[in-house]
Amino acid sequence: MCGIIGYVGNKPAAPLLLQGLARLEYRGYDSAGLAVADWGGLTVCKRQGRLAVLEEAVKGLHLPQTVGIGHTRWATHGRPSDGNAHPHVSESGLFAVVHNGIIENYASLRRELEADGVVFRSDTDTEVVAHLLEQVYDGDVKTAVFTVLSRLTGAYALGILCADRPGELFAVCKASPLVIGVGAEEQFIASDVTALLPYTRQVIWPAEGDVVRLTASDCILWDATGQPVCRQAEQVMMEAMAADKGEFPHFMLKEIMEQPAALEATLAPHLTDTGVRLEELEGLFADWRQVHRLVIVACGSAYHAGTAAKYQLERLTGLPTEVDLASEFRYREPPLNPYTLVVVVSQSGETADTLAALREAKRRGAPVVAVVNVAGSTIARESDRVLHTQAGPEVAVATTKGYTTQVAMLGLFAVWLAHKRGSLSAVQGTSLLHALQALPAVAARALEQPHLCRLAEKLARQEQVYFIGRNTDYAVALEAALKLKEISYIHAEAYAAGELKHGTISLIEEGTPVVALACHRGLQQKLLSNIREVTARGAQVVTVTTEEQAPLFAEEGEVLILPDTPPLTAAVVEAIPMQLFAYYVAKARGCDIDKPRNLAKSVTVE
Ligand code: M6R
Repeated sequence: MCGIIGYVGNKPAAPLLLQGLARLEYRGYDSAGLAVADWGGLTVCKRQGRLAVLEEAVKGLHLPQTVGIGHTRWATHGRPSDGNAHPHVSESGLFAVVHNGIIENYASLRRELEADGVVFRSDTDTEVVAHLLEQVYDGDVKTAVFTVLSRLTGAYALGILCADRPGELFAVCKASPLVIGVGAEEQFIASDVTALLPYTRQVIWPAEGDVVRLTASDCILWDATGQPVCRQAEQVMMEAMAADKGEFPHFMLKEIMEQPAALEATLAPHLTDTGVRLEELEGLFADWRQVHRLVIVACGSAYHAGTAAKYQLERLTGLPTEVDLASEFRYREPPLNPYTLVVVVSQSGETADTLAALREAKRRGAPVVAVVNVAGSTIARESDRVLHTQAGPEVAVATTKGYTTQVAMLGLFAVWLAHKRGSLSAVQGTSLLHALQALPAVAARALEQPHLCRLAEKLARQEQVYFIGRNTDYAVALEAALKLKEISYIHAEAYAAGELKHGTISLIEEGTPVVALACHRGLQQKLLSNIREVTARGAQVVTVTTEEQAPLFAEEGEVLILPDTPPLTAAVVEAIPMQLFAYYVAKARGCDIDKPRNLAKSVTVE
């Protein structure tokens, strides 16, 4: 996580760094800092807390320098504090460093430096880099950087300033994202291309291990072996991220409301009058009947999207489908071969574990398709094929439209693959196509929940909430519980409804809230029994169901009624009121909804 930004050009760097940090703050917001350089040396300003605190501190400073680096932190080593904020500076103030990633061998390096008399000012892993640079520096920054890199293990994107070279900005990337922005008489580095879009659309993606030296007019790259290397600049087509919330009090609410449009943008390019088209996948297999297994790999909400898709993929294609957490998959030595199709799912396209899983899958010979929202992200660039969701920029840390567009895209993929494998009848194909065509409109109706705010306020003082469901309802329960936890800090758990009685039901007592997700056709009677099991033990149940099935649950406490929707699209429609529920609960509890504590939008450390 953490966001890094750097600038070298002819304009004062500090305001540009602050603007860049504002676009990167989603990556972490424990502290923020910047360093600028001129012949007078390095000037550093850093503060614990949100970027606004740093902005306030910088107001009192005269900062005309035209080269600088900035950082917004998600703490890994050392608690949030001014001292642990980046940039970190070497003892004599010669080098300043910002870092995204983890230096895994920092403890032994620190012991070594301390034995040499170096005094550390922070608890971070990053500070060793600044001190090592100063220790090995003999007037050539490039050589010093390569010497230090040879001592580091772990993942790092680094921005480096040297007081001896105030017209130059150095950067490095290994297993952490970094992009170079090429402007007219100015150059940038950033953790994410969206931070560069207001200034330039010409970008260079350094390769693993590249070292970069930027001046206002020049960009020089060396590969990991130290050889000069030319990397082509590319034109980025993305739009700059909408910087304001418009009429909405929070980005999360805005993004929830944008879902019908995001779903339309994701689905429409792939729907024809007669079926589904995914030109991006054509040719990956000569014959898609060769695929004998699917493995979906992702983290967090993307994993929940994969869990919902598993039910549809198995039902429609007949293919055995596994879903795994990327952090588990990458280390479990999964048996893969060229006929196992691995599908990685990621909104940001930068999640470290998902990226590592992708690389592991490719190393083991499996073709990889990515479902990704951010075009040009590392996962998009490294996958064999990409299915782009069109959610647009998602700013709130808790994903909403990112998740629902992933579910929609995976549903589209399930229909397409079933068609390719000949496992769909014409009648089934037509009815699935209609379900996908109708989804944006049905999602718009799902947003109309007049009673939800009152219900959320009623439950806002609870300590725990359970979500139960079967089949795709269970997948949505997982996502609903995560949403509630991450933004309201209420302890929430999801259970497959039939599983509760195998232990967890012991936690149900008088008044325990249980949200029963009951949209899946065919399992309503089973779910009704599970609802009765918890109400018999005093639970207060809220049932979420469809218009068609609502009469069955009329006697079961509060009932939220959603538009009817077939299994293929139910996980989208049902998730929407659960997002709103979490939002209103968090609002009633006075939580920081867009930037919940301890979280970051893009998890680029494992
Ligand atoms: O960018 P990704 O889709 O790879 O992110 C995966 C998770 O980190 C993400 O979904 C996370 O769980 C969100 N905070 C959920 O709201």
